[in-house]
Amino acid sequence: MPHAPSPQTFRPAGPLRGAIAVPGDKSISHRALILGAMAVGETRVSGLLEGEDVLASAAILRAMGADIARRDDGEWRIHGVGVGGLLQPQAALDCGNSGTSARLLMGLVASHGITASFTGDASLSRRPMGRVIDPLSLMGASFTPSPGGTLPLMLEGAHPAVPITYRLPVPSAQVKSAVLLAGLNTPGITTVIEPVPTRDHSERMLRGFGAQLDVSEEDGERIIRLTGQVDLQPQTLTVPGDPSSAAFFIVAATLVEGSDLTIRNVGMNPTRAGLVGVLRAMGANIEDVDAREVGGEPVADLRVRHAPLRGIEVDPAVAPSMIDEFPVLFVAAALAQGTTITRGLEELRVKESDRLATMAAALETVGARVEEHEDGLTIHGTGGEPLRGTANARVKTHLDHRIAMSMAVAGLASRDGVQIDDASPIATSFPGFESLLEETSPPQPA
Ligand code: S3P
Repeated sequence: MPHAPSPQTFRPAGPLRGAIAVPGDKSISHRALILGAMAVGETRVSGLLEGEDVLASAAILRAMGADIARRDDGEWRIHGVGVGGLLQPQAALDCGNSGTSARLLMGLVASHGITASFTGDASLSRRPMGRVIDPLSLMGASFTPSPGGTLPLMLEGAHPAVPITYRLPVPSAQVKSAVLLAGLNTPGITTVIEPVPTRDHSERMLRGFGAQLDVSEEDGERIIRLTGQVDLQPQTLTVPGDPSSAAFFIVAATLVEGSDLTIRNVGMNPTRAGLVGVLRAMGANIEDVDAREVGGEPVADLRVRHAPLRGIEVDPAVAPSMIDEFPVLFVAAALAQGTTITRGLEELRVKESDRLATMAAALETVGARVEEHEDGLTIHGTGGEPLRGTANARVKTHLDHRIAMSMAVAGLASRDGVQIDDASPIATSFPGFESLLEETSPPQPA
């Protein structure tokens, strides 16, 4: 789905007020479709994120036999093919901008006796796939990737696949999930060892669908064991709001004076909630209201009031629990009092863009003081003074939705507004972002 670039300007805005809800969690939405497609019978999902990334997964699962449809009331119904039941697709599987679709679905296909070609957009075609090719090859699948181990690639699944024990060399929930999904149709026990815990939505949802999954801790590592070739039972699920989408509104309300915004139904899984803790340590005023559980995931309403921030040194150990939130944290840091230091973020270089280089350049374009290091950024904040804005320049977003939304937030806290080169990638994860921002925070008269 190539887009025509759509430049957009985000101007300084008034306080963010009222109560909003953000769309469903992207990670959980992909997994709900995938596991629904592996269960025999009808899975019902409400709150599914209808962003392009998730729709790419739905289209790919349909191409391999699953029946997936949206009802008029917004509920999604999935009739799965059962574990081991995927059909040979007739055309290339287009993952668009979505690394999660590519990596999780390669895992799913790897233990089926089918051959599939995976493609993606320019951003996804630059991202490393070796991290899933390695373990899935050990399980018996064969790959013909493009040079550098990237998409487009051809995958020939193994049937039967071989169960493996795999210690993750990079802290990646996508790699963990790819191996576990391959393990669903593999005889015996597939084991993943996580030296550093990553988001655990796959484990929670696999259990919910009746998979035989055992999680333990040994010598400080998480050991996940999945018994293969066990039937999954269809489920009725509600997807919580995406904390990675809520992040833009949390930071915007923190930065803009006079704000008092409630964001309802935000996923607060501890493997995802790192940003809230870091912002609180910087002085943010974020209150959890009505903490509860929805569909096996912790959820809360968050009330966020404007507060001045101070720079801190961010503990690299929190990185996996806020890996997608660093671009918007960098914006918060650019307006804090003093210096914020981040380290241990080399993974950010292989996201939808190189998020360290892209954010360093973007923040410099709007007048912030930033130093880029191999594994992090050091940002000298303005102490609350608005950023200059882009004047006649345009921020380059490199097909990266989170850069576009982070720089939109920077625009609210700028003097002259921030123009970005392309807002169209926002639709991959947050359809309706711009209108929700405008409703929450009406632009100020010029
Ligand atoms: C995701 C895992 C993370 C995250 C991505 C979604 C997932 O990627 O950045 O947006 O749904 O498993 P990595 O596994 O590469 O860290």
